Amino acid sequence: MEDGFCIWLTGLSGSGKTTIANELRRRLTGHRFLETMDGDEIRKGLSRDLGFSKEDRNEHNRRVIFCSKLLSRNGVIVVVALISPYRETRAYAKEQIPNTMEVFVKAPIEVCIERDPKGLYKKALAGEIKQFTGIDDPYEEPIEPELVVETDKESVEESVDKILQKAAELGYLNVEKANALIGR
Ligand code: ADX
Repeated sequence: MEDGFCIWLTGLSGSGKTTIANELRRRLTGHRFLETMDGDEIRKGLSRDLGFSKEDRNEHNRRVIFCSKLLSRNGVIVVVALISPYRETRAYAKEQIPNTMEVFVKAPIEVCIERDPKGLYKKALAGEIKQFTGIDDPYEEPIEPELVVETDKESVEESVDKILQKAAELGYLNVEKANALIGR
């Protein structure tokens, strides 16, 4: 069995984490077992009791870390798509889940506001939603992520190619397999 690993996507709401997670799933299906831990989805189930205070976000992230650890040690590639705004929590994820690569899904806040796929920035800017990340709640940018993908400058395919390449470089993914998956 090949070892599991974790691709931890962190970034603002609307930065493109879910889109990248979906494209990673598309590329890897049929080659490796993969599970996606998407913030919006997990918040409908496992974390449905939690809101957006620092404590609640950390508890929610901690639950995801716990599950990711179980999955990855059984050979699964875990793709986490969480804002995960706190550096300390992301450091804890790396400590807990062996072979975790932190990927900063970067897009300027202005671009995220412009995209506003769920109409939430509009509400946050109007003061209808409080504690919204990037508006009136913090996002601590990664200092030394394994990789940065800039979703306002590169295509989803390019970002995913970079992630697969980096996973191979780090020894998480077989180089030949990664090459076969790049550009598909
Ligand atoms: S995290 O901060 O706890 O890691 P997570 O990724 O699970 O965030 O959830 C973020 C998603 O919840 C956003 O993409 C958005 O759809 C929704 N959301 C609702 N309220 C907020 C808020 N106050 N701040 C950020 N996201 C919010």
